[in-house]
Amino acid sequence: MAVCLVTGGAGFIGSHLVDALLARGDTVRVLDNFSTGSRANLAGTAGRAEILEGDLTCLDDVRRAVAGTEFVFHQGALASVPRSVANPLATHQACATGTLHVLQAAREAGVRRVVYAASSSAYGNSTAPVKHEDDPTLPLSPYAVAKLAGEHYCTAFTHVYGLETVRLRYFNVFGPRQAPGSPYSAVIPLFIEAMAAGRSPTVHGDGRQARDFTYVDNVVRANLLAAAAAGVAGKLYNVACGRTTSLLELIAALNGLLGTSLIPVHTDPRPGDVRHSLADISRARCDLGYSPDIELIEGLRRTIAHLTLGAARPGKPGPGEPAFHAA
Ligand code: UD1
Repeated sequence: MAVCLVTGGAGFIGSHLVDALLARGDTVRVLDNFSTGSRANLAGTAGRAEILEGDLTCLDDVRRAVAGTEFVFHQGALASVPRSVANPLATHQACATGTLHVLQAAREAGVRRVVYAASSSAYGNSTAPVKHEDDPTLPLSPYAVAKLAGEHYCTAFTHVYGLETVRLRYFNVFGPRQAPGSPYSAVIPLFIEAMAAGRSPTVHGDGRQARDFTYVDNVVRANLLAAAAAGVAGKLYNVACGRTTSLLELIAALNGLLGTSLIPVHTDPRPGDVRHSLADISRARCDLGYSPDIELIEGLRRTIAHLTLGAARPGKPGPGEPAFHAA
């Protein structure tokens, strides 16, 4: 039984991790500012997690949250490439400064290991068709830069202070609780919400851009493995399925699962968008014993069941963000 902090624990990925940690008997604390996360995501914890409302940009809040914990799963962030294009300072503060605060507090508190939610956006449009951890980084958006800055801070804190950190580069995570209610929501909940209501999905560009969509349970498992594995401090791992799917293929799959035959509407490509993203996951398989047990179609099936059963709660627009209006 370990004492764990999940930053962003009321968010999409963080709340699934909280569930898994509680299920195995750990003591769990959550730090969240509830700007994009929601208390409803923690409803299933039945009061078993300690919830601290606080902000990653406030070092004192972070210190309070980290105190007395052994493992920190740092999931808190301000996600979304287009949000970062609209407001790069807010993204930097939450993702880069927020990560520096977590590491500083973890070092002061003598935390055993910090597992950091890094992003596949670090690779940008690197020429390698399959992204390997040793590839050069080419961040294209303020979001990608801020998440990569967090990675560099992790490496530096391991190198300079001996704080154990493990970086997990998530590839386009999806699943239940990923809210469709904001213009900055991820593509899968946006497409499912539109298509389940009989509306055409809106595709930015030609729809041939591709992603290594990764079901959230695989990511949770990678976190648990990364916290426990020996000899991995300072290391970086891709966490993905190892399979690429274009948006047009995604729409075809969703049409099949939803029993629809909707044709997408195309709009301009998004600034800062990556073209193709596919991971080599052999390092995580080898060092962590990771495997992507839930593949895309099964993950989509579960996500559709969650969204269309009315369990989805719309994401709240952030400060200064436009409210979402369905087309
Ligand atoms: C990026 C990262 C991902 C990270 C996420 C955080 C890459 C390859 N991936 O995701 O690891 O978790 O940021 O926010 O950098 N799209 C549409 N129509 C829509 C919405 C989106 O066509 O209504 C398109 C986008 O232009 C993009 C693709 O779908 O090409 C995926 O977009 P999104 O789900 O927002 O994620 P990424 O920006 O790829």
